[in-house]
Amino acid sequence: MAARSLNVLREQARGCRNCPLWARATQTVFGEGAAHAAILLVGEQPGDQEDRQGRPFVGPAGHLLETALARAGIDRRQTYVTNAVKHFKWVAADQLRRPRSAAESAGRKQQAKGHAVPGEGRGKRRIHQKPSTTEVRACQPWLLAEIEAVGPRVIVCLGATAAQSLLGGGFRVTQGRGQPLPSPYGAPIVATVHPASILRGAPDEREAALARFVGDLRAAADLAGAPSVRSSGPLDRRPAIRPARPEGEAGPTSGAKTTRVDEDRKRRPGVASRPDRRPAIKRTANGNGRLARRALP
Ligand code: URA
Repeated sequence: MAARSLNVLREQARGCRNCPLWARATQTVFGEGAAHAAILLVGEQPGDQEDRQGRPFVGPAGHLLETALARAGIDRRQTYVTNAVKHFKWVAADQLRRPRSAAESAGRKQQAKGHAVPGEGRGKRRIHQKPSTTEVRACQPWLLAEIEAVGPRVIVCLGATAAQSLLGGGFRVTQGRGQPLPSPYGAPIVATVHPASILRGAPDEREAALARFVGDLRAAADLAGAPSVRSSGPLDRRPAIRPARPEGEAGPTSGAKTTRVDEDRKRRPGVASRPDRRPAIKRTANGNGRLARRALP
């Protein structure tokens, strides 16, 4: 059921025009992974490689993510990986210029925030641009619909854009990283850094940053199997996530009138007893060797 829902959503998202980003992207990059994954990871937006291949996290940041997941004992294939924004936002390097004046320095600040400074830089490379709040908001119905369809036990936000999409613009990853945060999405959120930030960091700090990232992912894995997540409690109450539209209709739009997925509600109290749950996590505990965590009951 959920797998079909995801397929339908994926099809619908192909033609998304909720914001202008579709026009310069090669394709919509929808989420992928296990249909009922216990862990759902959310990145920012596809990068150059993802845009070309049509799959999330297949470039350098994706490789680092996969390494970190493996170190945390999580098999990527058992997770669901997606992005807050489904189209690649970019500017050609040769359309950027080097700021020269004070006024242009202001532009440099803008660029640091991800805004293009026309004319700076050289070459044919496509330079990633941070999506705006409006673009993140426009894409949010797809993300919520994915969360609804997958019904994860824990949502991992990779970086500020993902966290702010789900936790609000005031959220700072630096303040709440690695902690289980209550959410209205039917599963707690663990926010952590984006793997690209580790790649961008100073080389001599990379190992430490990676170790901390792995620690956050391990915390999410623990949470995905923790009894408190399985019991009914505030975190387990189903949120008012509404799928953007019933299946078969056009995909989510920001202002779409929507209905709850009752099917999903029915199965929800027994997250733990859902027969279609796969063993999601393998991890090494206390240095005592590799444990295959049993299928989540
Ligand atoms: N960065 C992201 O946030 N998502 C991807 O899919 C790739 C890189």
